[in-house]
Amino acid sequence: MKILVIGSGGREYAVVKKISQSPLSDKIYVAPGNAGMKKYAEIVNINVDEYDKLVKFAKEEKIDLTVVGPENPLADGIVDIFEDNGLVIFGVNKKNAQFEASKDFTKKFLNKYNISTAKSETFTNYDDAKKYLLDGEFPIVLKADGLFMGKGVFIAKNYKESLNYLDKIFNELKADKLVIEQYLNGKEISSICLVSHNKIFPLEFARDYKKIYDNDLGENTGGVGSLTPVDDLKEDEIKKIKEIQKQIENGFINENCDYTGILFIGLMLTDKPYVLEFNVRFGDPEIEVILEKMKSDLLELILKTMDGTLNQDDILFDNNTYVGVVLCSKGYPGKYEKNKVIEIKDGNYTLIHSATKEKDGEIVTNGGRVAMVISGGKTRQEAREEVYKNIKDINFDGMYFRKDIAK
Ligand code: AMP
Ligand code: GLY
Repeated sequence: MKILVIGSGGREYAVVKKISQSPLSDKIYVAPGNAGMKKYAEIVNINVDEYDKLVKFAKEEKIDLTVVGPENPLADGIVDIFEDNGLVIFGVNKKNAQFEASKDFTKKFLNKYNISTAKSETFTNYDDAKKYLLDGEFPIVLKADGLFMGKGVFIAKNYKESLNYLDKIFNELKADKLVIEQYLNGKEISSICLVSHNKIFPLEFARDYKKIYDNDLGENTGGVGSLTPVDDLKEDEIKKIKEIQKQIENGFINENCDYTGILFIGLMLTDKPYVLEFNVRFGDPEIEVILEKMKSDLLELILKTMDGTLNQDDILFDNNTYVGVVLCSKGYPGKYEKNKVIEIKDGNYTLIHSATKEKDGEIVTNGGRVAMVISGGKTRQEAREEVYKNIKDINFDGMYFRKDIAK
């Protein structure tokens, strides 16, 4: 088969790498890709939102299957566009992409089906939201409705701070709506699932480390470390998450969603699990560690998800624990410099390229989350020790990473 993967980050690197191992895959293209992916795929110089060009390319190259990485093209309806052109593509359609593109849409769904989630109210203007915040219980969470590259959620410690965020949401981000939500303090967990015509097939649980500094301090990031499986989950918590998955599945069926693609359920565990959010794509940096652990052929799983023949038993994982640590540019998630030369010594570990490019024959940094080192082990401790030993083989000017991932 000829495959086209759309995207350029660590998530797409991991997907391309995994698909390249499938006997069903003859040739992989990636648009626009990054420097590291050349090992597995041919780089195509088309951006993720150049839909006409992508369709033309897929037709000319007779692509058998396109796999979409990021959320923006899904929300724009890339799946509908490809299908209207008679092309085969894996991802949710525009209608179902609202589960990520609109926090309010998802909140309404969760409440309608009585699915455990934090209490919230939606507002369409500044004044009503301000009035509500006056009696708010702090900390409180403010979520801009829309896609803001992971920068639309704010946790306000007090009333004054909440007004600053309110201003930012309506005036800087220019969101039409805002969800104000009760703050939940607990452990986060990511349940990434394949969804085949409304039926949910969970992959292994993973944890994303979101804060930039050790001990979960500092600003929220896109995710700077990950772990799978999550060995601190209790039986009872797993049971409750499974119930939530079933409720979501029933909701999809009842709403006639015909949901096919990926569903990422972001959960917070306090006294019980609460759904924080849905994403309609693989989580990054969670999927990188999940795919290291996966024994099944991802391409085969995708094809079965699409044609409705997938079984939970098809999704197999090994018994190891995997830890991933993201190597960031100095200053991330704030301002950072690019074009720093990356020195890489080969070793017995997985290096995921997230934001790298080639310049004058060298690999240089090209974003905030530059690369990710993943190691496996029989235990969390073993994987952790291994990953931190292996990071010594990578270096670039200003390289920063957390020292406590999976501790
Ligand atoms: P979201 O995009 O809704 O997942 O929000 C991004 C991140 O903000 C989450 O992964 C959490 O770390 C945090 N967050 C979101 N909602 C809440 C909440 N109700 N309580 C505490 N933290 C939250
Ligand atoms: N790691 C969380 C996300 O991909 O949104």
